[in-house]
Amino acid sequence: MLKLAVMVSGGGTNLQAILDAIDSGSIRNARVVKVISNSRTAYALERAKKAGICTQCITRKDYPQAQQFDEALLSALQECEADLVVLAGCLVVIPQIVVDAFENRIINIHPALIPAFCGTGYYGLGVHEAALARGVRVTGATVHFVDGGTDTGPIILQKAVEVLEGDTPEVLQRRVMEQAEWVILPRAIDLIANGRVTVSQGKVHIQAESTASQKSMDGCEKRTEEEK
Ligand code: GRF
Repeated sequence: MLKLAVMVSGGGTNLQAILDAIDSGSIRNARVVKVISNSRTAYALERAKKAGICTQCITRKDYPQAQQFDEALLSALQECEADLVVLAGCLVVIPQIVVDAFENRIINIHPALIPAFCGTGYYGLGVHEAALARGVRVTGATVHFVDGGTDTGPIILQKAVEVLEGDTPEVLQRRVMEQAEWVILPRAIDLIANGRVTVSQGKVHIQAESTASQKSMDGCEKRTEEEK
């Protein structure tokens, strides 16, 4: 059972998508053991509490030195024995000591098709403002592993979303969340939780649904055939 620590900063709709996917069974073999927010007022914390999940607020301004914040975040993740850290609407730059301790075990959802509209300064609504300003016909979302850069880690999943005539940034953001983010983030977690994701030379490889389960299906059919 993969233990997930989910980091949030705002409304928590991506966290909710994860919780709903675990409840519905579309995420298998994983459970959220902790929700960490850098904002005390994040509604995501309410969503976690409603789901009975342990929450913690780790805010940079509570620590005189940046290093103390970094160490507090690292120990919080280690204490809950997280196997996978999920950045779900998280606006915190993950400290290098955390990236090093959780190599290829931190994933992030970005509301664009990386390498478009990503990197420093591209987050939240601004991503969609930039997409509309550029006049792209298609945008979407990306789930990627977090490395030492900003939105530069190996890409796991992407999903495209159409940009429609008259879209405002808010309307486009909502469509990208509904049609892409809330679909591919749970999907990526299920793939990782069921051992189907590997990374080599900076590229992600996703194994086909386990042939083991297919074999057992065949085996079952054969047995019923023989019993006839
Ligand atoms: C979303 O646009 C998400 O892509 C970005 O943060 C925004 C809010 O996410 N990372 P959430 O509702 O807090 O999950």
